Amino acid sequence: VVGGGVIGSSIAYHMAKNKMKVLLLEKGRLAGQASGAAAGMLAAQAETDGKGPLYQLAKESRAMFPRIAEELKELSGIDIGWVSGGIYKLALTAEEAEALRQSAAFQLERGDRAEWLERQELLSRLPALSETVCGGLFLPEDGQVSAPHLSLAFAKAAAALGAEVREFVEIDEILCEHSRVIGVAAGGQPIYSGTVVVACGAWSSRVLSSAGIELAAYPVKGECFSVVTHKALLETTVFTDSCYAVPKAGGRLLIGATMEHGTFDRAVTAGGIAALLARAQALIPGIARAEWEQAWSGLRPQTPDGLPYLGSHPQLDGLLVATGHFRNGILLSPITGRLIAELAAGGEAAELDPFRPGRPLTLRKEGGTIASYH
Ligand code: FAD
Ligand code: GLY
Repeated sequence: VVGGGVIGSSIAYHMAKNKMKVLLLEKGRLAGQASGAAAGMLAAQAETDGKGPLYQLAKESRAMFPRIAEELKELSGIDIGWVSGGIYKLALTAEEAEALRQSAAFQLERGDRAEWLERQELLSRLPALSETVCGGLFLPEDGQVSAPHLSLAFAKAAAALGAEVREFVEIDEILCEHSRVIGVAAGGQPIYSGTVVVACGAWSSRVLSSAGIELAAYPVKGECFSVVTHKALLETTVFTDSCYAVPKAGGRLLIGATMEHGTFDRAVTAGGIAALLARAQALIPGIARAEWEQAWSGLRPQTPDGLPYLGSHPQLDGLLVATGHFRNGILLSPITGRLIAELAAGGEAAELDPFRPGRPLTLRKEGGTIASYH
């Protein structure tokens, strides 16, 4: 398994759980890229539009968290900070309020829980919010985890089950013979394996190009910051189309995130953080008096149609791809790990059909929560 983010680590964990012999290779530190930068929201209902194939997969993955939290704690000793307290998805304009009401109706029809709250009811539940909010949806089944802890816990639990985990090993080539994968090479040294899983996040296209495979995928940079208060400003995550605030342990409030397409530069910019701070303060005025903690960034792996690539690659036997989880890789990590491990063991996973690498791509419309903003 190439790539020690949450996706590669979850795949390694699930493979080890299925008693496969696994080697997990990471070019830097485990969880050193997007997976360590993420806010950790399990926003199956708040972040997907409810209509595409991702919605079902996201809900299935969200439902795996209570069990995963227990398993990982037992095997790795790491508490992933799973909280199922819901997410408030807020409307800042009358138009957004109407769109959220429709989305609630749609989700209720599908048997999912979603509660529309008028402005006064919302403000009585969340007094830290600005009076300018128009209303919001309460999505009680969404939740959150600590993303870096989850990612490291998967890797450590994989090791506890017998997987070999190596950091600071950069794969520069996928080795093939005829139309079959035979391993990878790092620093000119071959490492042989009948199955190779590429889970390199925003770098997956680069790694695959060494085997002559073109995969349309690109990075979308996100900048975040955190503040600390003695008395928590929020008990529950709030989410809008332009920023979100996620309460963490110890009075920390994590604010995310900018979106900048197509750059591998992870610099945290004054402009990016200033724009985000202005949006967050307009939503939660008390942030102005909170103590500054830190700012950071990460590169989300995105695809042209907005769906991840999950499954066997049609060009090379033995090659599996698991990338392109964009804004939802933390949420989707348990189900991705489970299904890719099943495929690697020779099984089938029909629910991955809409996500197969090599599918014809339809360009995704920009808009809603995936709009480009900085
Ligand atoms: P990564 O974590 O980037 O891991 C890929 C790994 O591959 C890297 O560690 C890299 O070093 C390694 N690699 C690359 N090339 C090689 C090579 N040649 N050899 C060896 N190793 C290699 N998702 C959610 O579900 N909820 C959220 O709230 C959320 N918030 C986010 C907030 C921000 C600011 C960002 C940036 C992302 C957020 N995401 C969130 C998205 C989530 O972080 C990603 O979808 C997820 O982390 C992708 O995981 P990954 O393992 O594919 O990628
Ligand atoms: N899912 C939140 C983000 O990607 O910023």
